[in-house]
Amino acid sequence: MILFHQFYDQTSSTLTYLLADPISGDAVVIDSVKEHMGAYLSFLQEQELSLAWVLETHIHADHITGAAGLRELTGARSAMGRNSAAGCADRLLGEGDTIVFGNHVIRVIPTPGHTPGCVTYQWRDRLFTGDALLIGGCGRTDFQGGDAGQLYDSVTERLFTLPEETLVYPAHDYHGARVSCIGQEKDLNPRFAGHNRQSFIDLMGSLNLPRPEMMDEALPANMNCGNGRPQKNFHGV
Ligand SMILES: [Fe+2]
Repeated sequence: MILFHQFYDQTSSTLTYLLADPISGDAVVIDSVKEHMGAYLSFLQEQELSLAWVLETHIHADHITGAAGLRELTGARSAMGRNSAAGCADRLLGEGDTIVFGNHVIRVIPTPGHTPGCVTYQWRDRLFTGDALLIGGCGRTDFQGGDAGQLYDSVTERLFTLPEETLVYPAHDYHGARVSCIGQEKDLNPRFAGHNRQSFIDLMGSLNLPRPEMMDEALPANMNCGNGRPQKNFHGV
C-alpha cells in the first residue's frame, strides 16, 4: 500500500509532494511551502499519518519552506543536499544516501547545476526532480551558484539514463502540467532535445530572466529551513 498526494502553491507555482506508507503510518513531505502547512497537517491527521521526514530538493528562491515549522509541530526530521550548506537540516544528503520511511526507501541522486546542492529523490517508479528537470524546462543557472554545464551533465547523465517510463515530478510547473516521464522529457524538452552541452550552456546564458520577487526574503529564510535568519554559511545573493 502506498499513499501519494500532490499539493500546489498558486503564488510560486510550487508542487509539494506527500508520500506515505499507510501500514506504518510514516509520511514524507518534499518541498513544502510555509503558507500551506495547515493543509499538510490536516491531510496527515485525516489519514492518521505521522510525518517522519521533511525533504528539500534545494534551497528555493521563490517561496519559504515549511520545513522548520513542520519539524517543530510534528517531530519530523529535515534533510537536504549536502552541498546546500544550510546548517539547519538534521541530515545532509549525498550520493548513495537513502531516506527510509516505513517499508519504503527514497534514493538520493545529486543533480547539481541549478544550485550546487540540488538533489533528486527517487521513490519507486518516480523522481522528484526539484528544479533540475522541469516539465519542458529546467531551473535557471544564473544565480545561487548555478552552473549550466553541471546541470546539463546532471540531467543527461543521471536522469535521462533512467528507464523512459520513470515518472518526473518537478518542484514547479507554470503551465498546468503535473507529471511527465523521462522518455517524454528526453524527446520533447526544448532545453535538452537537440542540444549538446555547449549549445545548452549558450541557451542558458541567453535567457535574461527577471530576478524572483521573493528572493531576498526566501534565500536567507530557507538557509535556516524557513525560520528567521540563517545560522551559518549564508553568503548573500
Ligand atoms: Fe529553485
